[in-house]
Amino acid sequence: MDRELLQVRDASRVFFVRSREGVLPLAAVSKVSLALKRGECVGLVGESGCGKSTLGRMVCGLDRPTSGQILFDGVPLPEAGASSPLVGRVQMVFQDAFSSLDPRMRVGRTVAEGLESRGFQKRRHMGREEIRDTVRDIFARVGLAGMEGRFPHEFSGGQRQRVALARALVTRPDLVVCDEPVSALDASVQAQVLNVMRDLQEEFGQAQLFISHNLAVIGYMCSRVLVMYLGEIVEMLAAADLRRAAHPYTEALYRAMPGRGLAGEGPVVLEGELPSPLNPPQGCHFHPRCPRARDICKKKAPDWRELAPGWRVRCHCAG
Ligand SMILES: Nc1ncnc2c1ncn2[C@@H]1O[C@H](COP(=O)(O)OP(=O)(O)O)[C@@H](O)[C@H]1O
Ligand SMILES: [Mg+2]
Repeated sequence: MDRELLQVRDASRVFFVRSREGVLPLAAVSKVSLALKRGECVGLVGESGCGKSTLGRMVCGLDRPTSGQILFDGVPLPEAGASSPLVGRVQMVFQDAFSSLDPRMRVGRTVAEGLESRGFQKRRHMGREEIRDTVRDIFARVGLAGMEGRFPHEFSGGQRQRVALARALVTRPDLVVCDEPVSALDASVQAQVLNVMRDLQEEFGQAQLFISHNLAVIGYMCSRVLVMYLGEIVEMLAAADLRRAAHPYTEALYRAMPGRGLAGEGPVVLEGELPSPLNPPQGCHFHPRCPRARDICKKKAPDWRELAPGWRVRCHCAG
């Protein structure tokens, strides 16, 4: 059955933060809905602070929505924890592998722990030799053959991201959430790591939610793109359609990509910064920075509009 692997339905996450005016609600993620099919690689792009990591953490069961629902393989996500049915089936790769690796543990041991965890062993018991062989195999596949015995500090930044990848993929998960996995690396190393990730995605066929503030990275890795602005998804489209994006925000992100500007036009540089989610603008959240803003944009939040199958946008002026 072609059931969606992941469904996010109207998920919101509100944090309560202390400020001079007292404790205020901060809507980090607001009524986000999305779906991922098996094997699909979907990108989530937007400026820093727009809610990407919060959404990614909720998808992995590391955080819970304040309202709304997340279903994995048709089943509503329960609380996080070692007994969660997500153990081994959903994995996360973070930006900074160094801080997520135990500095005193050989990396092979760290990777083996995923296979030994109780939740995973409940589904599939593995003996010691099988664990050792599986770990050896995954190290070879990420391009670190024979390096299982090393410690984290003995690797370069790019190699450590490969260790993080090995740890995520060793359980053959159905879904990997990659949160800015190459953003901390030099450009040349980024390309290497992205190539390894692309090859392994093709080989293992896991679905991926690939989070980045860099649209070039997303365009390289993903077939479909979700564009996020101030806690909301504002456009969903095929990566191939990015160059004719409907939302002015997507367009601005696209034009800001080096070497990818729309033919004959200069880059559109977004004015101002992402507004504070503590005090979001009325109407369309994007209107204060939008070159196309009209009166209605200041008053009314736009509804979703479908431009073509799989292409949806929330903008009064688009399409
Ligand atoms: N634990 C938290 N407590 C309070 N505010 C948070 C917390 N986590 C994230 N936020 C706020 O939620 C918003 C979205 O953050 P985040 O999801 O990290 O965005 P991104 O990953 O796109 O940079 C930001 O304004 C951030 O300050
Ligand atoms: Mg983040």
